[in-house]
Amino acid sequence: MIIAIDGYSACGKSTLAKEIAKRLNFVYIDSGAMYRAITYYFQNNNTDINDPAAIEQELNKIHIEFIPGEHLRILLNQKDITDEIRSPAISELVSEVAAISSVRKKMVQIQREISKDKSVVMDGRDIGSVVFPDADVKLFVTADLDTRTWRRHEELKSRGIDIDFSKVKENLIKRDQMDSTRRDSPLIKAPDAYVLDNTKLGKEEQTKLALEIIRNKSHIPNTN
Ligand code: DC
Repeated sequence: MIIAIDGYSACGKSTLAKEIAKRLNFVYIDSGAMYRAITYYFQNNNTDINDPAAIEQELNKIHIEFIPGEHLRILLNQKDITDEIRSPAISELVSEVAAISSVRKKMVQIQREISKDKSVVMDGRDIGSVVFPDADVKLFVTADLDTRTWRRHEELKSRGIDIDFSKVKENLIKRDQMDSTRRDSPLIKAPDAYVLDNTKLGKEEQTKLALEIIRNKSHIPNTN
């Protein structure tokens, strides 16, 4: 069974996806972390992201793996880069990298492979529209921009990253714009996705609402 969760940057979809996966005992896959990992690799290997041949060559050298657990870890060629990929420098570049078709092709292939024969909750931008158009349940999460900025700013602060509120906001606006206007699989709400606006909802409230939608759609018994 596949639950697809899409939405704008910092709308809380990862928090929601993680919680749903935990309660339903599904595997959680953070597709955004994969685009961040590729960006990290390109940055550290000085890959020219405007050179398709160089990108193609580098993509063949990349191995991405998730280590499930209380805190999902991501390994890039066996190196744990979970914390590094959350830096503002990666957030600045990631939408540009995510717009490259060969990168997307490779990521979608890995996303489908690692979900094979599993019950999965995957979050991202194109999960319900492109990666799993036949997903059992699709959610499209939204929240207003100031709420999203505040949440991301708090998250960065809690990790010791000191950055202006306005800079965080600027980055979210820029990424949303790039993610929704790129040619290859832009961020869109799949026609059959449920919109979940969590601007005024706490974590528990939005989880309950999402679980209700999932149960109505998929006949999962109510055990939580
Ligand atoms: O979810 P996130 O903010 O960590 O994602 C980082 C970037 O990766 C985001 O700006 C757009 C891109 N992305 C994407 O294009 N497709 C996905 N399925 C997930 C993320």
